[in-house]
Amino acid sequence: MQSLIQLEISRRDLLISSAATVAVSGVAAEAAAQSPGNAMTYTTKISFTINGEIRDLDVDNRVTLLDVLREHLHLTGTKKGCDHGQCGACTVLVAGRRINSCLTLAVMHEGEQITTIEGLGEPGNLHPMQAAFVKHDGFQCGYCTPGQICSSVAVLEEIKADIPSHVTGDLTTQVQLTPGEIRERMSGNICRCGAYSNIVDAITEVAGTKT
Ligand code: FES
Ligand code: FES
Repeated sequence: MQSLIQLEISRRDLLISSAATVAVSGVAAEAAAQSPGNAMTYTTKISFTINGEIRDLDVDNRVTLLDVLREHLHLTGTKKGCDHGQCGACTVLVAGRRINSCLTLAVMHEGEQITTIEGLGEPGNLHPMQAAFVKHDGFQCGYCTPGQICSSVAVLEEIKADIPSHVTGDLTTQVQLTPGEIRERMSGNICRCGAYSNIVDAITEVAGTKT
């Protein structure tokens, strides 16, 4: 029968040799991943429609939709305020619904319809929401404004579609367009210039409840 001391030594040897095996295989895997000519691919061919135009791209799998819009397609109207989903400056519409483009990878949008601020309207042919923001002074520095306007357009669609928000009181009737509903639904779009009350006025006007 083996003594307790012998058992303890064999157990220690086993642990040391397992750790060495893991370390060696880890180094080998890392070397294989980094070796030139490795078959792994890091890019993906995608095709989506931006502002009505089909765009074909070969993008790094890690690139966000926001960076593809700004750095690859030079649509710099969509802004990067935080890159963490906390400010709303990067808001765009995907299939008519608003999303933070900094929180989504471009490769996730194969075949989708994306609308940015450039696609809503342009100088001389403004979208009603853009015109209302100008009329009601809904911005100051303008950095949050593209995101605010994309969000505003989607907010009216959400209310029309009877999608309730956190402050909707009665879930059995059609959602009402109130200043409280607008403020709640726009709370994901930060404006350090403090244009909030004018933004609510602009949205209310477009909704047809204020002239
Ligand atoms: S840049 Fe996307 S939420 Fe701030
Ligand atoms: S207009 Fe300056 S942050 Fe909103």
